[in-house]
Order: sequence, then C-alpha cells, then structure tokens
Amino acid sequence: MKKVNIILMGFGNVGQAFLRVVHEKEDLCRKRYGLDIKFHSIFRQGGALYSSHPLNPGEILEKYSSLSLFQENPHWKSGIPLTEALESIRSGVLVECTPTNIKNGEPGLNHTHQALDRGWHVVTANKGPLVVDFPGLKEKARENRVDLRFSGATAAALPTLDVALYSLAGTEISRIEGILNGTTNYILTRMKEGIEYQKALKEAQSRGIAEPDPTLDVEGWDTASKILIISNAVLHTDFSLADVKVDGITAVPSHLLNEGKEEGRALKLLGKISKEADRFHLEVSLTLIDKDHPLFGVDGTNKGITFLTDTMDSITVIGGKSDPRGTGASLLKDIINIYFWDR
Ligand SMILES: NC(=O)c1ccc[n+]([C@@H]2O[C@H](COP(=O)([O-])OP(=O)(O)OC[C@H]3O[C@@H](n4cnc5c(N)ncnc54)[C@H](OP(=O)(O)O)[C@@H]3O)[C@@H](O)[C@H]2O)c1
Repeated sequence: MKKVNIILMGFGNVGQAFLRVVHEKEDLCRKRYGLDIKFHSIFRQGGALYSSHPLNPGEILEKYSSLSLFQENPHWKSGIPLTEALESIRSGVLVECTPTNIKNGEPGLNHTHQALDRGWHVVTANKGPLVVDFPGLKEKARENRVDLRFSGATAAALPTLDVALYSLAGTEISRIEGILNGTTNYILTRMKEGIEYQKALKEAQSRGIAEPDPTLDVEGWDTASKILIISNAVLHTDFSLADVKVDGITAVPSHLLNEGKEEGRALKLLGKISKEADRFHLEVSLTLIDKDHPLFGVDGTNKGITFLTDTMDSITVIGGKSDPRGTGASLLKDIINIYFWDR
C-alpha cells in the first residue's frame, strides 16, 4: 500500500468537494489502486487544520466545514505557514484550490512554487498560476522530478489533457475547438430558446451555475485561460493570455441569433486553436456551427472538445460535470494517475 500525503490549499466549494470525494472513495483507492490517501493539512485564509497524525475527513465534513466551526477544530493552527506543513513531511501532493487570479496567479502561484521547490507533486484546479507562469512551473517540476497536473483547471471532469497527451500521442494536432465553459453555454442555450441575455444570466446565477461576479466567464476569459493552458501543455507553445483573441457573450449580435434560428445552426462560444503557416493561433469567438459539427448538440451546462489530427482523424469528447464535485473527482483522478499509472 502506497501512502499519499495531501496538503489541501483552499476549502471552499472545490476543496470541500474534493475532501468528500476522497472520503467516499477511500476503500476503492485502497483496493483498486493500493493507495492510502491521507490528509495532512487543510489550509484556508489565516491558518490551517494541521496535525502530525492524519486528519479525519468524515469528522471535518460532518462537524467543521463552515469557516467559524472550522476554526474550532482542535487541529486549527492560526497563521501557520505553508512551508511548515511542507517541511514537516518528506513528500506528497499539494492540491491547490484557492481562487483563480489570471493577472498575477496569486496566491496559488506562490503555493505551487513552494511545493515544487520541496519535491512535492502539485495537482491544481486553479488556472491562475498556469496562465501566468506555465513554463516556469513546468521547468521546476521537471528539475525536481515531480508531477504538475491540472485537469481541474482545464474543464475538470471533461477529459481534455488526458485525451490529447495520452490518447492522441504520436499524432499531429492541427485544430482544437472546445465548448469549455458551462455558464456561457447555458446562457447561449437559453437565448436560443428565446430568453434575453440578462434574464438568462440571472437564471444561471440563481441556479448556482454562474458566479455572483460572472465577468471572467461571460467576457470569455475563462475559456481563453483554458485554451491557453491546453495549447502550452499539449502543443508545446509558449503563449500568454495577451496572444489570445478574446470575445465574450455580453453583446451577442442579434443577426447571429436570428441566422442561427433560421438556418438551424447553433451559436456557441468556442475556444479555438488552429494552425496556419506552421503557427498556432488562439481565439475565443462566438461561432455559428452546423448540424454536422461534432459539438452541435452540446447544450446547457455541458462541455465538449474536438481535436483534428493527421492520423486519427477527428476525436471528440463530450460531457464532464461543470461543478465542484466533478472538479473534486478530476483532482482525485490526477492523483491516482500520478501514483498508480505513471510511476
Ligand atoms: N467551482 C467550480 O466548480 C470550479 C471548477 C473548476 C475549477 N475551479 C477552480 O477551483 C478553485 C477553487 O474554486 P472554489 O469555487 O472552491 O472557490 P472558493 O469557494 O472561493 O474557495 C476558495 C478557498 O480558497 C481559500 N483561500 C483563499 N486565499 C487563500 C490563501 N492565501 N491561503 C489558503 N487558502 C486560501 C479560501 O479560504 P476561506 O475559506 O478562508 O475564504 C477558500 O477556502 C478556483 O481556482 C476555481 O477557478 C472551480
């Protein structure tokens, strides 16, 4: 049985869902993969649950998940630095679930560097550090012979990186198109049904699909961040966010909606990576797609990605829950793949 020590950074929607999924799958991880996953510390702002013995996930989920109660846990240590947790144990996985900041990557960028520096693997749901410094993090992981995995940051439960890196190994990918943001796809689907933008957005917010501040989603930056990370990781490009042409859905031209309806086409916010004259181009744009496009039927909060390759033709993956539980499950998948399949 391999022991897997976890330091969890962030205990909001995704951090809590991750703890719950791991708790649910404890037996399966032991029996099927020989992995004994133990939580060593769980950080929020201002401190952490930290113990020299593994924490008890069931008890934390049942009694201590709200912030006020969390701090009443006997293992709560106010102001403890991440370095202390990282250095008190030889190795493990830092799971990064703090808020995404695509301008400076913080606080996740610093957490990720600290963990890689000390020989810890990092599995992250946080796009910020990868958008800001993917080359630096990748190089640091390579130098320290540890893994940096980020399924949770690239459409989470929808397998994007795994398909491109493993299933399409040995192919030349010339085009990638994705519906990678559940919020915008939900709003566009409702607009196609005749609901106007503001009403569809409010509905998405009341159903917990859109964030209270939906800017990153509706202005296209979430999709742009995902295609940027996918491009740099899969196609070995060296782009930054400034290289992505970004469109959102805040001002959908009425002619696009009308043409879509009249011609039986679907209006989608697509993240696109295309190769022209040996150079890749990245853009996020509102696009009318025909019935025979592989992503035509991807409606509501569903997501999908399609790859065009030289030897395997076109490969499409559709589905993947766009919620904290699906994201938590994608973090667990990355951990299993590090310790079970790829070692
Ligand atoms: N929500 C989704 O379905 C989804 C899907 C894919 C990816 N993601 C990504 O996953 C990450 C987490 O999302 P979320 O919805 O769980 O966010 P959230 O609910 O806002 O939780 C963020 C957590 O990070 C903690 N935190 C903030 N700054 C910290 C710091 N300096 N040190 C330690 N902890 C800190 C917060 O602490 P407090 O509790 O003390 O405030 C909170 O527990 C984001 O990067 C997001 O983009 C989310």
